[in-house]
Amino acid sequence: MADQDARSPVGIEPPALSVLRWDEPPGGPAVVLLDQTRLPSQEVELVCGDVPALVGAIRTLAVRGAPLLGIAGGYGVALAAARGEDVGRAVELLEGARPTAVNLGYGARRVAEAYRSAEAKGADRERAAGAALAEARALHREDAAASARMARHGSQLLAELLPEGAHRLLTHCNTGALVSGGEGTAFAVALRAHREGRLRQLWVDETRPLLQGARLTAYEAARNGLPYRVLTDSAAGSLFAAGEVDAVLIGADRIAADGSVANKVGSYPLAVLAKYHHVPFVVVAPTSTVDPGTPDGAAVVVEQRSASEVTEFTFPRPVPAGAEKDGEASAAVGAQAYNPAFDITPPELVTAIVTEEGVVSPVTGVGLAELCARSSQV
Ligand code: MRU
Repeated sequence: MADQDARSPVGIEPPALSVLRWDEPPGGPAVVLLDQTRLPSQEVELVCGDVPALVGAIRTLAVRGAPLLGIAGGYGVALAAARGEDVGRAVELLEGARPTAVNLGYGARRVAEAYRSAEAKGADRERAAGAALAEARALHREDAAASARMARHGSQLLAELLPEGAHRLLTHCNTGALVSGGEGTAFAVALRAHREGRLRQLWVDETRPLLQGARLTAYEAARNGLPYRVLTDSAAGSLFAAGEVDAVLIGADRIAADGSVANKVGSYPLAVLAKYHHVPFVVVAPTSTVDPGTPDGAAVVVEQRSASEVTEFTFPRPVPAGAEKDGEASAAVGAQAYNPAFDITPPELVTAIVTEEGVVSPVTGVGLAELCARSSQV
């Protein structure tokens, strides 16, 4: 396969807007998001002045991706606290917005805990709200630091697993700065390999039905000057068969205690392909994505999304479940759809899980638990 037109322009500026920030305009505090439903054609901010607005943004995927959902959940609780609202209710609303990414509830609960502990120490409501915001900011910073550490561990692992010059990496969904306080998870590994001069090609799965790969990963790859190409999800099989994939690199929304990985639908078929073709299948996620309370893959709640995402072209804005349809039909009138947002990859198909604390390989529940224990000791 010819490589000559695979290079993207180098040195394009990063987006001027931040992916997620806390703001305190005269009208009251707000969580301000880069609206991901409008990318790549428009870089527009979405101002969420209260928890219901933020919940709406989470449901429509204006803000998305496991680590960023954790950060959004944290700031969402800080927002409720700053508005003098019921923090426990805010946790319920935020946690219920999407069921699969464990980070969302983790971020919301952690910030609520900081609020309650400040209150328990005698802080008034304003000071407790300040403690909540400080915790949300700490979570944001920690995610950036975890991202850098994952990139280091992951690129080292790839250098060990792959022969020199064999860094043609296939990725699915979107795992870069758009989902993180830093440079992301799987994408951050590819980015580091690129900076070290080892990335030959990033294969970007388009990621049906909402095109997180084609719209968002391609956007990030172009901005960082990575050599990349987009493919339809169904083209991955022939790409493997042609010997064009050296490793698969994906993120995760929830990792069960046994090492089962819930990630964007379409990840599991890639793991099966990778096994058949003897290609490493590597998952990159912070330890906050590991959920000891979910024993195995069968226990993961997989979000089912609106049929219209499959039966209509709704871009740039996905239609929330129950809302009026406004897209152009892509299926026969009246067609029903199967639209799970995630799938589960069993641990035996995963070569390694890379976290900020190090790498688990082979993937076992015991190995994973040991690694997570390191992060809770800090
Ligand atoms: O439905 P999305 O777009 O929120 O799904 C996101 C993914 O599946 C990502 O791969 C996952 O959150 C890992 S992000 C580092």
